[in-house]
Order: sequence, then C-alpha cells, then structure tokens
Amino acid sequence: MRQTSQISKLTSLSASLAASFFLAATGFSSAVSASDAAPAAAPMAEAAKPVVPGKPKVDAAAGEALYSNGDASRGVTACLTCHGPKGQSATATWPKLSAQHAAYTAKQLKNFKEGTRANPVMMGMAATLTEQDMQNIAAYLAKQPASQGVAQNKETIELGQSIYRGGIAAKGVPACAACHSPTGAGIPSQYPRMGGQWAEYNAAQLLAFREGTRKNSSQMTTIATKLSDQEMKAVADYMAGLH
Ligand code: HEC
Ligand code: HEC
Repeated sequence: MRQTSQISKLTSLSASLAASFFLAATGFSSAVSASDAAPAAAPMAEAAKPVVPGKPKVDAAAGEALYSNGDASRGVTACLTCHGPKGQSATATWPKLSAQHAAYTAKQLKNFKEGTRANPVMMGMAATLTEQDMQNIAAYLAKQPASQGVAQNKETIELGQSIYRGGIAAKGVPACAACHSPTGAGIPSQYPRMGGQWAEYNAAQLLAFREGTRKNSSQMTTIATKLSDQEMKAVADYMAGLH
C-alpha cells in the first residue's frame, strides 16, 4: 500500500531527526519568564471568541468529513485510521483528540507543519492540510465526548497526584493543576485537556519537551527540564485517570 510505505519511510527518518533536534536543544534557556507564570484567573471569555479572528467561518462538518475520510485527491490521510472514531483512539500509540480545545488542536497541527513540534508521522500529515482544514478538524474534535482512562500504577499514584496538585516546591515545579485545571479538563484555549489521555503518550510528550524535539511551548520546556523520568511517568499515569 502506498500509504503504508509512505508512513514507514517517514518513521525511518525519526531517529536522525530526533538526534538533530536534541543537539539543537542543548542551548535553550531555562530561565523562567513572566509569561511562564500560571494564569491568575481562567481566561474563560476566550472560549467564546472565534479561533482566529477575521478568518473564514469554521466548518465542523467539513472537518468531520476530512477527519473520517481524508481526501485522496489532495493526499490527505483519514485521521480516523490512527486516532479512531470521534478522536477516541484505541491504543496509546496514537493520542486521544476528542473534547480537546479547538485552538490547541489547530495550533498543534500548525506546529507540526512548521516543524516546531518534530514528529515525523504528524509532520507528514499536517503538511497536506490548509489552515482552514486545521480549524475545521479542530472544531469537529472539540465537540466530541471526552474519552476516559484509568491510572494503572498503584505505586506511583501518590507521587503523581502530589505533583499534579502541588508541584514540587524544592525544584520550582509549579502545580500542573494551575494550568491544566484540577479535573484535567484544561483551560480554553491555551491550556490543553489532560484527563483521560494515554499515560504513555503524555510521558513521551514530557520527554519531548525536555529533549527539545517538541519546542512549541517555552512554559512546558521549562517545567519538563526539571522533571526526572520517574516523576514524568508518575504524573502522566495520574493524569490518565483524571476526569
Ligand atoms: C499514521 C498514524 C496517524 C495518522 C493517519 C494521523 N495521526 Fe495525528 N498523531 C499520530 C501520532 C503518532 C501522534 C503523536 C505525535 C507526537 O508524539 O508528537 C499524533 C498526534 C496528533 C496531534 C497532537 C495531539 C495532542 O494532544 O497534542 C494532533 C492534533 C493530531 N495528531 C491530529 C491529526 C489529524 C488532524 C490527522 C488527519 C489529517 C492525523 N492526526 C492523522 C499519528 C497519526
Ligand atoms: C504555566 C502553565 C502550565 C503549567 C503549570 C503546566 N503546563 Fe503543561 N502545558 C501548558 C501549555 C500552554 C501546553 C500546550 C503547549 C502547546 O501549545 O503545545 C501544555 C502542554 C502539556 C502537555 C502536552 C499535552 C498534549 O496533548 O500533547 C503535557 C503532557 C503537559 N503539559 C504536562 C504538564 C505537567 C505534567 C505539568 C505539571 C508538572 C504541567 N503540564 C504544568 C501549560 C502549563
């Protein structure tokens, strides 16, 4: 299948890309800037605003069609193939996308296309999308019901919970709940939903922020740089059970 061979070609690029991004990231600054502060008050009003002011109207139905069927004439692969019906993926290999804030999802697609989030598979997918496609798919996914998960590791649940709720004062790690909300629902539109997401996926993202393959958030790079592997795994597992 053409699609499969394209994907495996992209995947084989991943090791070399990861290595070069890691090298590029060794020079980043870990200074905490004013913009790294947790939001004092939830910017709730933002949720009602259009995703990009002045852009054409967002069409969630067109987004659903593209998500579910792709568009062979433009080389767009159906997102459903990996991310599952309604964005509720079946395995941790592919993140859940349902109920995610539209502006966050659209930003990720843009970041994959620009390469500030360096995942070889999704860079290929996003390259085929226009900005309007991104807005449409994001609007469709935001309306789908959240899919729940469970924390799996009894031994690390307490550590995960204390990091999520209170941070790690000794290392200057802020409470995740301050931005991702106590229930894991996130705060529209900047702070993504975490609750129910696959633990393996979130742990991999924390590592990607720390190693610099994902450099689309200075806030998360600063935070991830201070977390050990064990702390990342514990908090990711705890977040999977949040709802
Ligand atoms: C071949 C499998 C595959 C297909 C098809 C695919 N994706 Fe992905 N997607 C992935 C993987 C793997 C990741 C995790 C990337 C990473 O680790 O950064 C991902 C991540 C994402 C994310 C980031 C989620 C988050 O929480 O930050 C979004 C958004 C996304 N994909 C949207 C799409 C859309 C829209 C399409 C269809 C145009 C699509 N994907 C098609 C495999 C796929
Ligand atoms: C100051 C606000 C803030 C705090 C505190 C914070 N985050 Fe984040 N986090 C963000 C933002 C903003 C993003 C989205 C970045 C982007 O646009 O790609 C994010 C994204 C993430 C992601 C990627 C989600 C995905 O779907 O790919 C993970 C995982 C994550 N944060 C974990 C954590 C953990 C664990 C903590 C606590 C140790 C934490 N965050 C604390 C702001 C914050």
